[in-house]
Amino acid sequence: MAASTNANPRVLLMVTGGIAAYKSCFLARLLLQAGFSVKVAMTDAATRFVTPMTFQVLTGHPVATDLWGERQSDALDHVEYARWADLVVVAPATADIMAKAAHGIADEIVSTMMLAFPGPLLIAPAMNDNMWRHPATVANREILAAREVNFVGPGTGWLACGTVDEGRMAEPEEILAAVRKLAEGLPAGVKAEPAAVSQAGFWAGKKVLITAGPTHEPIDPVRYVANRSSGTMGYALASAAIGAGAEVTLISGPVALTPPRGLADFRSVESTADMAQAVGEAQETGADWLIMSAAVADFKPANYAPGKLKKDVLGDGWSLAMTRNPDILGEVVPNHPHDGLRVVGFALETDDMVGRASVKREAKGMDYILANDPTAAGSGFGSENHQVTLIGVGGIIWESDSLPKETLAGEILQQLARADN
Ligand code: C5P
Repeated sequence: MAASTNANPRVLLMVTGGIAAYKSCFLARLLLQAGFSVKVAMTDAATRFVTPMTFQVLTGHPVATDLWGERQSDALDHVEYARWADLVVVAPATADIMAKAAHGIADEIVSTMMLAFPGPLLIAPAMNDNMWRHPATVANREILAAREVNFVGPGTGWLACGTVDEGRMAEPEEILAAVRKLAEGLPAGVKAEPAAVSQAGFWAGKKVLITAGPTHEPIDPVRYVANRSSGTMGYALASAAIGAGAEVTLISGPVALTPPRGLADFRSVESTADMAQAVGEAQETGADWLIMSAAVADFKPANYAPGKLKKDVLGDGWSLAMTRNPDILGEVVPNHPHDGLRVVGFALETDDMVGRASVKREAKGMDYILANDPTAAGSGFGSENHQVTLIGVGGIIWESDSLPKETLAGEILQQLARADN
């Protein structure tokens, strides 16, 4: 186990073969949102339930799936994965993997890594009730418990075999809580600091207002002017903030996304004027943070036509007169002053990104701005991944890697918490 050089406690999530493996996808996401770095190893049986690609996309890291690396596109140093981790979570843990761990058997990737890992181990068993109560499993559990291996669950509930009994894997939220507890106990020097964990605590109970998506500026009842924002980044930020314990209000322009579960409030708006009004109203409820990730239209058609514009009237060509929209950050936010409100904006810049974003941050009175270049490789509209530069009063605070937007959202919240602490 190497000492982490960054502040993110490193969790190696080991997934073994049970139907509960699908829940481990949510667990991986919760861990990332809570500020942990996550890599995944899977047994062969686990890959029959969930594909390694799912975890790779969620975590941004290749998934270790076999001892010889034959099924990996990139060569993986498996011992290095075990060395990398500050703690290991096995979820779901089958009776088989518990038996191997108890007796030091290392005959495939997960059991080998478990044996190569000397640090804290958390096991989330999931199995049929008879297997759980079998004297062999009971004895293995006792051996592991005597070695101070930690357990979470199993709970009682619906089992894949069709009965309701003990053996169901603990819910991802319970496993996250157990990981957090374990991370707090990591000895100094083994890991740099459990800062990310406390930073995840930073968001707990904070009122966070997030805008997302494009705006539609109506020309007539059927036509509008819009932009290519999908809203993915704002929705990912909302989801990450909920996961970190914040009370989140999401104000969304027209997008094809499902609002994350657990929002305190959701407002669907069309135009910049609607969004400005919604932000103003939501601020009245005393937001602590405003994250303006919406791609707000700077201009709107100067004259809305209440009836559909007819092409035979418009002729062979026509010009659309445009007028400035209200600047939500520049105009609306300062009119709703709230002590201690932190304002975060986004800037999409294709040249002199940092210079232009810094000027914008100051001009619009933002505390932080996230600059991104949509033309850069590994970034931009429609791209799976995204890359941002966080800029504060003193200049660049952090430059992210190109990451899946969900992973990036969690990292952005951590960086903001770190910068603001
Ligand atoms: O479009 P621009 O690059 O100026 O956007 C910078 C920030 O200002 C973004 O966070 C955006 O959401 C916000 N903005 C706004 N009102 C506008 C235009 C942009 O609040 N009319």
